[in-house]
Amino acid sequence: MTEGVDLVIFGASGDLSRRKILPSLKHLAARNGMALRVIGAGRSEQTRDEFRDLVNQSSGSSELAATAEWVRLSYRDPASFAPVKELLDGAKTAIFYLATPPETFSDILGAVGNSGMATKGDPSRRIVVEKPLGHDLASARKLNSQLAAAFDEEQIFRIDHYLAKDTVQNVLAFRFSNSLFEPVWNRNLVDTILITAAEEEGIGSRAGYYDQIGAVRDMIQNHVLQLLALVTMEPPTTFDSDYIRRAKRGALRAMSPLDPAQAVRGQYEGYLEEEGVGPDSRRETYAAARVRIENWRWDGVPIFVRTGKALKRRATEIVIKLRDAPMLRVGGRRQRGIATLIVIRIQPDEGITLRIGAKRPGVRFEMVPAGMRLDYSRLTRIALPDAYENVLSEVLAGGHSAFPGGEEIELSWEIVDPLIKSWEFEGHPEPYPKGSWGPQAADDLVASGGGGRWIISGDEPGTS
Ligand code: BG6
Repeated sequence: MTEGVDLVIFGASGDLSRRKILPSLKHLAARNGMALRVIGAGRSEQTRDEFRDLVNQSSGSSELAATAEWVRLSYRDPASFAPVKELLDGAKTAIFYLATPPETFSDILGAVGNSGMATKGDPSRRIVVEKPLGHDLASARKLNSQLAAAFDEEQIFRIDHYLAKDTVQNVLAFRFSNSLFEPVWNRNLVDTILITAAEEEGIGSRAGYYDQIGAVRDMIQNHVLQLLALVTMEPPTTFDSDYIRRAKRGALRAMSPLDPAQAVRGQYEGYLEEEGVGPDSRRETYAAARVRIENWRWDGVPIFVRTGKALKRRATEIVIKLRDAPMLRVGGRRQRGIATLIVIRIQPDEGITLRIGAKRPGVRFEMVPAGMRLDYSRLTRIALPDAYENVLSEVLAGGHSAFPGGEEIELSWEIVDPLIKSWEFEGHPEPYPKGSWGPQAADDLVASGGGGRWIISGDEPGTS
């Protein structure tokens, strides 16, 4: 029994726990002024001391390691959860974190719920789940109902670590605390919205997971649609999580299901040779799609999203391109206006650039692209907190603003399901060279859809 918080990590010796969860705990407990005890649970055979070593190595905290406990269990066998229950006896707050493969979720939820370790409606018992939250709409619904059987919505925390990135939360501050931008944020002045979530790395050693999943399920269904929802939603009534979620649901509801005829599927050259990938895998490592939002604010605005592995460089950005200003006539010559771009850089080089047209210095009246730049890291002296630290900090505090609600998850699956289903029957994805920006067809998609071309800061004049 402890006075503080018990964090039960199922799958605690796995990759997610070692790389993300445990390292984020080091500063967390101190920052939240509470005693945190880690209870690792999982299938691997190890002693408590071995687990303590692992906690020490992964978190860099000897204090956390000193109190950590290890319970070996079999997810299929509810009786094997008994030692966890004993450890939690009298615990003030207990958080159950499922860092395990999705096929174990139902057994764990059943065991935790039925054993009385957690009671539905008791806010001191919380459950944290990680994606994949389903692999299509039907399975996402099933998971939501399994969660709902054991926990109330306020006790459930579904992680989308993009929502916990500081720069993603800044989208709300940027949009709704500056009266300059909101008046132009609609179909009257916005010409195109482009979202890129590009990664430079390939799949590394994650073939076992990735080859079953692909880019749409891995990135678009969750991170990218969440970004798009934040960018396109109506102003929330307040910034409390209930209202933010409500506003996001409104945005997601207005998005049409993705049309396979308006989407591009790619696979990087060399993917088939990656360890663990089948020789004839048709799994996409790149996806681009047009998203239609049918509401008063966005109807008709070309909106495109793309994501992929092994691309030119790591860059997650939202680009809002405003309509061109009218042509300028100077001394009988016609000068083309320079489109205003609002570039929200989620990572790296976190910040916002406003790309405008300016007069080129000198005697002639000529336009040049010029950037006004907010460098996000310069707003603080501290290092930006890791997304997982933000996530867990909010779980400890019981807040929900960095977590998508169950309905959002289902709405997002409704949007991507037709694409996923249709791609299951298609041939090989379009190959693209590693280090490129993906298949040519994605450029054609944007050009033919009235979006011009993909824009990425650094490559675009005035945005570097
Ligand atoms: C994860 C995906 O959710 O996000 C990974 O499963 C991806 O495939 C990762 O690499 C990207 O996260 P970040 O924070 O590095 O942009």
